[in-house]
Amino acid sequence: MTGTLENCLVFDGPLVHSCSRNQITTHERALVVVENGKITKVVENVTGDVKEHLGSGKYQMKKLEKGQFLCPGFVDLHTHAPQFPNQGLGMDMPLLDWLQTYTFPLEMKYEDEGFAEKVYKNVVKSTLKSGTTTACYFGTIHRKSTTRLAQAVSRMGQRGLVGKVNMNQNSNGKYVEKTEDSMKETLNFIQDVSELNNPLVEPVITPRFAISCSMDLLKELGKLAASGNYYIQTHISENKAEVEFTKEVFPDQPNYAEVYNVSGLLTNKTILGHGIYLSDEEQKVIASKGTAVAHCPNSNTWLKSGICDVRKLWSNNVKVGLGTDIGAGSVSSIIDAMRSALAVSINKSFYSSEDYKPLTYPEVFFLATLGGAEALNKQESIGNFMVGKDFDALLIDTEWQNRPDMNAPTFTMTDHSLIERVQKLIYSGDDRNIAEVYVCGRLVSSRNISSK
Ligand code: GUN
Ligand code: FE
Repeated sequence: MTGTLENCLVFDGPLVHSCSRNQITTHERALVVVENGKITKVVENVTGDVKEHLGSGKYQMKKLEKGQFLCPGFVDLHTHAPQFPNQGLGMDMPLLDWLQTYTFPLEMKYEDEGFAEKVYKNVVKSTLKSGTTTACYFGTIHRKSTTRLAQAVSRMGQRGLVGKVNMNQNSNGKYVEKTEDSMKETLNFIQDVSELNNPLVEPVITPRFAISCSMDLLKELGKLAASGNYYIQTHISENKAEVEFTKEVFPDQPNYAEVYNVSGLLTNKTILGHGIYLSDEEQKVIASKGTAVAHCPNSNTWLKSGICDVRKLWSNNVKVGLGTDIGAGSVSSIIDAMRSALAVSINKSFYSSEDYKPLTYPEVFFLATLGGAEALNKQESIGNFMVGKDFDALLIDTEWQNRPDMNAPTFTMTDHSLIERVQKLIYSGDDRNIAEVYVCGRLVSSRNISSK
């Protein structure tokens, strides 16, 4: 084995990850060798002397403590960084009223770069602390402030897709752009992100949703995305009134998905938020393009948008991952998103035919990790601990009685098995169970350090 003390780290302890949709793979004691940010070796069943498995190179050992295990970093496929100050606010309104009353007025404040800087620093710090190693962020229409967000993501070491929002119609009369400026500033934003020179941070073309963009703008954005093979993110079929309004704005299109399809916005690098009311026909088109859906169950519950049927999306071969959708969602943690996905699916089963099977905890764990990676077409580099991938990982701590100072919400007795500890994390855990967060092998958040 090659490598120096600085760039070769070996984790020694329990490991869990998802290698397929309906099963969590667990190893009671594994070794994970990380060199220059990449996983170069995994020993699944360690017996005897560790050195026998590692050979004679120089490396730094990290032995996990009792109650700890390694888990892949979480992927948040859909969140709005500027909306964090409104987290938990206005949840008693439906989507379109909530946008007008709470969201547009807050987003307008990001014309002030200083305000953006303050908020965005805290956003990235808190999502990292929650174990989100990869985040897809919506910004606002303001290019310079959204560049500040991309800079914060880069500085703090998160893997991030960051988008300057485009909207040129149907806003509140003030929070809106001219088509030409929208395109020019999007190009400038892409340039700003490329100047970060950080492969972990990428721009994403971000039309807010169909209603807020003219067909001209949507098509221009589609062309731009194709020209640089850029990621695309937007919303689709979140709320019944939104679907109706979309029909009125685009009477020539047969359905919502087709508005994006004719604009060239459905690609294998597109993430669509929500997708609750998509017909089978729309889902099939989306699947044929390799486009993914971000399931945001917390947001869908509070705004009373509806229940997204993940099983139906899967049966139509649509890729799915999880989103927190702050501030329509009220909690920025993907652990909460897993739990909410389980809860809404179980509730749905009470009102569905007998053969409707609610999601299982291995399935939501898949959505939070490998499913998110597949949605982004990044399954070759993230999502689990296969050799050759980047080390995006969480050191989970479920022990409590030996570390009373940490006050973890979920704790285990020493006789709980590893899979039982995973259950406890999913059903009752939160940020306090996340001791350390790594992106590409770099420690980016821990109980003892705070991100700068
Ligand atoms: N649709 C258009 N804009 C938004 C937004 O900011 N949040 C959510 N949840 N849906 C939207
Ligand atoms: Fe959203």
